[in-house]
Amino acid sequence: MVRFLTAGESHGQGLVIIVEGIPAALPLTEDYIGAQLARRQRGYGRGGRMLIEQDRAHIISGVRHGLTLGSPIGMTIENKDWVNWQEPMSVGPVEAEVKRVTRLRPGHADLAGTMKYGFHDVRNVLERASARETAARVAAGSVSLRLLEEFGMELHSHSIAIGGNWASIDGPIDWQQVEESPVRCADPEMAGRMMAAIDEAKEAGDTVGGIVEVVATGVPIGLGSHVHWDRKIDGRIAQSLMSINAVKAASIGEGWESVNLRGSQVHDIIAPVDDPSRPWQRDTNRSGGTEGGMTNGMPLVARFAIKPISTLVNPLPSVDLDTGELVQAHYERSDVCQVPPAGVIGEAVVAQVLADAFMEKFGGDSIEETRRNYEGYLKTVGPRKSIFGMGR
Ligand SMILES: Cc1cc2nc3c(=O)[nH]c(=O)nc-3n(C[C@H](O)[C@H](O)[C@H](O)COP(=O)(O)O)c2cc1C
Repeated sequence: MVRFLTAGESHGQGLVIIVEGIPAALPLTEDYIGAQLARRQRGYGRGGRMLIEQDRAHIISGVRHGLTLGSPIGMTIENKDWVNWQEPMSVGPVEAEVKRVTRLRPGHADLAGTMKYGFHDVRNVLERASARETAARVAAGSVSLRLLEEFGMELHSHSIAIGGNWASIDGPIDWQQVEESPVRCADPEMAGRMMAAIDEAKEAGDTVGGIVEVVATGVPIGLGSHVHWDRKIDGRIAQSLMSINAVKAASIGEGWESVNLRGSQVHDIIAPVDDPSRPWQRDTNRSGGTEGGMTNGMPLVARFAIKPISTLVNPLPSVDLDTGELVQAHYERSDVCQVPPAGVIGEAVVAQVLADAFMEKFGGDSIEETRRNYEGYLKTVGPRKSIFGMGR
């Protein structure tokens, strides 16, 4: 099982990550993780916080001489902004009276979190509910990504829509171009309109959301399982995407589009092989690489929708936690659009699910053992006659 835990408040000293279940002898460096963290920090529409932070994961356990040990991998990421918050976020009691946050922000964890945990200061909730935590998830997911790469898998993401501007994508995506696009969009003309929409929202003191697609290639057939609801790979991916802050919908393949079509237009025909590198031929991938809760050997394609950020320069009406009276919601330095970084976070959480399902299927305490199991399995994939003869 590949799993991870994160800890840390947005303006606390830093973030802590523990990743467990990675086999021994996987090459892993801080630079590799740092490159993924840097991708998360880029993107048009981000607020001032990203100018302060230059995220760097410091590996403190589970790696020796550049190779994993099979033990839990511990990491920390420093919050550079902490120097400005030492008193309000002090671990120990402080003498001075610290200003409380009491004006509840609609669309945030503020109301439910203060009621549930019995707090009188919304900061006790908003610090952990903040998407600063997603830096820790990208660090954790990049360890999984490293594992998947070792077995020929690649993950990418791109923005499909921002502020109601939809990319038009015809043919293969140039991933290098996506990386260079400030909004991570494969359609250069629409990228310009997306940036204009972000500028207009910013001008109006407002925010915009959008849709992101994550694509994983080289995924072997048979990750996940049809036998139990909680082993189904599509369900696991949806849960991981929905757990990203501000994500309000997730789909696999042409999930939403398929409802308007007939079955004959939706399913991907299985054809005899004319490509010797694959055992089965599918010329379409409308199902997004999963059938029956398992990966089917086609690229895994998952989409998710991100709501516009709730913290507004022109705050919405709300009530004060102390008095219950009408106020304007609290404003705290905020992004205008979080769609571009959400793509990188989406890749990280999908990588974690795939790595978990991969280790569930192939096991192994060292990369070599995992590789033997994986290669042995690949030899069994294909028409039964050509592999086992007809005696079985
Ligand atoms: C990368 C990223 C950055 C975000 N930045 C902000 C922000 O600056 N201000 C804000 O109000 N919400 C931001 N959010 C969204 C909130 O964290 C989220 O809406 C809030 O925690 C409530 O959770 P929910 O929307 O999932 O219900 C961000 C989300 C992501 C993924």
